[in-house]
Amino acid sequence: MRRACVMGWPVEHSRSPLIHRYWLKQYGIDGAYEKEAVPPGEVEAFLRGLGERGYVGANVTLPHKLAALKAADIADGAAYAISAANTLWLDQAGKLNATNTDAYGFMNNLEAQAPGWNAGRRPVLVIGAGGAARAILYGLLQAGAGKTLLANRTRDKAEVLAAYFGSMSPVANWVEVVEWGERDSAVAACGLLVNTTSLGMSGQPPLDLELHGLQENAVVADIVYTPLVTPLLAAARNRGRTSVDGLGMLLHQAVPGFEHWFGVRPEVTPELRAHVAASLGAS
Ligand code: ATR
Repeated sequence: MRRACVMGWPVEHSRSPLIHRYWLKQYGIDGAYEKEAVPPGEVEAFLRGLGERGYVGANVTLPHKLAALKAADIADGAAYAISAANTLWLDQAGKLNATNTDAYGFMNNLEAQAPGWNAGRRPVLVIGAGGAARAILYGLLQAGAGKTLLANRTRDKAEVLAAYFGSMSPVANWVEVVEWGERDSAVAACGLLVNTTSLGMSGQPPLDLELHGLQENAVVADIVYTPLVTPLLAAARNRGRTSVDGLGMLLHQAVPGFEHWFGVRPEVTPELRAHVAASLGAS
């Protein structure tokens, strides 16, 4: 029996078991997916012993994504560019491989829920400059997205990301930093708007952003999935714009890991979505 796990601290809240156990059952695979609470400081030792613990690989959640990247023997471009690993597997030589599937998850979900999002390569407005923003900027860069406007409360963090991802793009000044106080006016310029902050999550204030200037066929995406329809997405829907929720990203980012561990490329179906949405208290 092949076994994988999600390691984090805490790990109890992770929805990954729900997704991977659903697929194991769906595809009739004799496998298991566990939760492992691993305290900070014990990540490397845990990962060194992954095979002895009977695992073929793991997902990594907060706060261990950087430690997991450091502990890996081999990491790919996505993990390095995002400076974090969320998916690990042991190869045939017993080497620990690492990748980051958040960019993959975001982009694949965006393609699925809003296929024309990059028509005309209009600018993209990204709100936030934390770890999630890194993943989304990397995904946008790879997808050949148009110019990116980056707004963050702490401007310095946006400047760091703009220099970093800007240097990887063939487009001069691909990322342009927008003052936090100017974010409302940047809305009118964009064909895609993405919230990468935790604002709008249950228990957090909503993202304060005025959508009235939003172009007619602009797309609004949120990485937050509790609630499924954040105040930002509700406002976009009220204006008749396409909204792309964070749950889809969560489901899509799980695909490559499952394929590495269990040898089947799983599908993100409406049934899986309903199954996980039910655990969030929504459908
Ligand atoms: P993650 O790794 O999940 O992206 P993070 O690194 O803590 O989390 O980043 C959180 C993002 O949300 C940051 O861009 C943060 O802005 P700052 O860089 O100014 O801290 C943003 N954020 C969190 N709370 C915010 C708030 N009340 N107003 C504006 N931005 C906020």
